[in-house]
Amino acid sequence: MKKPALTSVDIHPVLAERWSPRSLDDQATISTEDLTGLLEAARWAPSANNAQPWRFIIARRGEEPFQKIVSALMGFNQSWSPKASAYIVIVANMKNDDGSDRAISLFDSGLAAAFLSVEAHHRGLVVHQMAGFDHAAISESFGLNDSQDAVIVLAIGTQAPAEALGEGPALEREIAPRERIPLDQLIISGKL
Ligand SMILES: Cc1cc2nc3c(=O)[nH]c(=O)nc-3n(C[C@H](O)[C@H](O)[C@H](O)COP(=O)(O)O)c2cc1C
Repeated sequence: MKKPALTSVDIHPVLAERWSPRSLDDQATISTEDLTGLLEAARWAPSANNAQPWRFIIARRGEEPFQKIVSALMGFNQSWSPKASAYIVIVANMKNDDGSDRAISLFDSGLAAAFLSVEAHHRGLVVHQMAGFDHAAISESFGLNDSQDAVIVLAIGTQAPAEALGEGPALEREIAPRERIPLDQLIISGKL
């Protein structure tokens, strides 16, 4: 299923066509080449002061770390995302060297996630980001330190037909139109 963005002028096809499906092929695997490509894209995202505060947890379906992540997900995410070929957790270093808080690490990590998602779409894969998980459970399972916070879990896989989800909220969301606030309502000041 495709759900291209409706834009007033053309944008890059990868950006227009990227979306976040939940119907994933539970037989599909991800190659090391693709996984590496996704992480290279994330690695080359910009960050404030080039701090690169992101770190990654990689978990392929069928391996033990994958199951640990499934256990930490909120119920809805547990219902559809275990068909992903892999999860990547983006972990941010939330402290500066002097121990003060580094809030901008969340923004930096979002850029890494965006770069990764675009590269995935370019490679024919899909990414679905999930904030619905137990942060403490991930910290404990993967031995994160006090400065590290698991920001987002990315379900990465190969898209399957929407109907494979079966009746329920995931299918409803899968076939619903993608919506955005109109551009003119996003502009606080200035005009096009
Ligand atoms: C930071 C973030 C957290 C999200 N958390 C979840 C989640 O926990 N579960 C889920 O099913 N989708 C989650 N999503 C997916 C969003 O609902 C989705 O990106 C949004 O509806 C826009 O749809 P699109 O990506 O298809 O354009 C999340 C997306 C982002 C960016």
